[in-house]
Amino acid sequence: MRKPIIAGNWKMNNTIAETKQLIADLKPLVKDAKCDVVICTPYTDLATAVAETKGSNIKVGAENVHWAEKGAFTGEISAKMLVELGVEYVIIGHSERRQYFGETDQTVNARVKAALAAGLKVILCIGETLEEREGGKVEEVLVRQTTEAFKDIDKSELENIVIAYEPVWAIGTGKTATSQDANDTIKIVRDTMAKLYCPKCAEEKVRIQYGGSMNPKNASELMAMEQIDGGLIGGASLKAEDFSKVVNY
Ligand code: 13P
Repeated sequence: MRKPIIAGNWKMNNTIAETKQLIADLKPLVKDAKCDVVICTPYTDLATAVAETKGSNIKVGAENVHWAEKGAFTGEISAKMLVELGVEYVIIGHSERRQYFGETDQTVNARVKAALAAGLKVILCIGETLEEREGGKVEEVLVRQTTEAFKDIDKSELENIVIAYEPVWAIGTGKTATSQDANDTIKIVRDTMAKLYCPKCAEEKVRIQYGGSMNPKNASELMAMEQIDGGLIGGASLKAEDFSKVVNY
């Protein structure tokens, strides 16, 4: 019912030359994938990624986007600029941006609206920190992040937004949430979406990925869980073989 989607988040990795090589290696390995396949690259690699994936089943995404259409925002990139490049997806609200670059629930919401208005598909990241988890605040944090991110977003857009639940303590640490825990936590997010929109929309239209040290070894177990519709892959998306094994879970 919900088509799985596996996306790579390259973060600040890969030059143009490395991008060409990685995509050339990746294409044959993922060509028969049953899920949607996306690679999200640094801005400087996007044009190359779009050109090199042309005619393949790999879609290209950016890792951030500004909320304004244009203007005096030195160093920023607009949604229109991404669309013109042929980019289809954009990651918004990644925990590294929330942690290091002052991203808030309000700026996340503004970016989501701008991206959708320009016709981009959004990968919206949410997730609790270790402190929040240990303080028993998982549900509170996820409900807040989800509610704020979807503020003023119409039901008709739900198919254009993929939610990525990434517990911050599992990112780049080698610690994965157990598949049961990831599943249960994602259920909280789906229930929140059911309340914000409707149970049927949450069940049929909202795809929710897990992210955080997902790799070839744990992908199939995670993907077998009822609530998990895909993965957002950091480290393991930088090697064609590893990423393809996750994609072909
Ligand atoms: P890792 O897969 O390296 O833990 O990163 C996850 C992530 O942050 C994807 O956005």
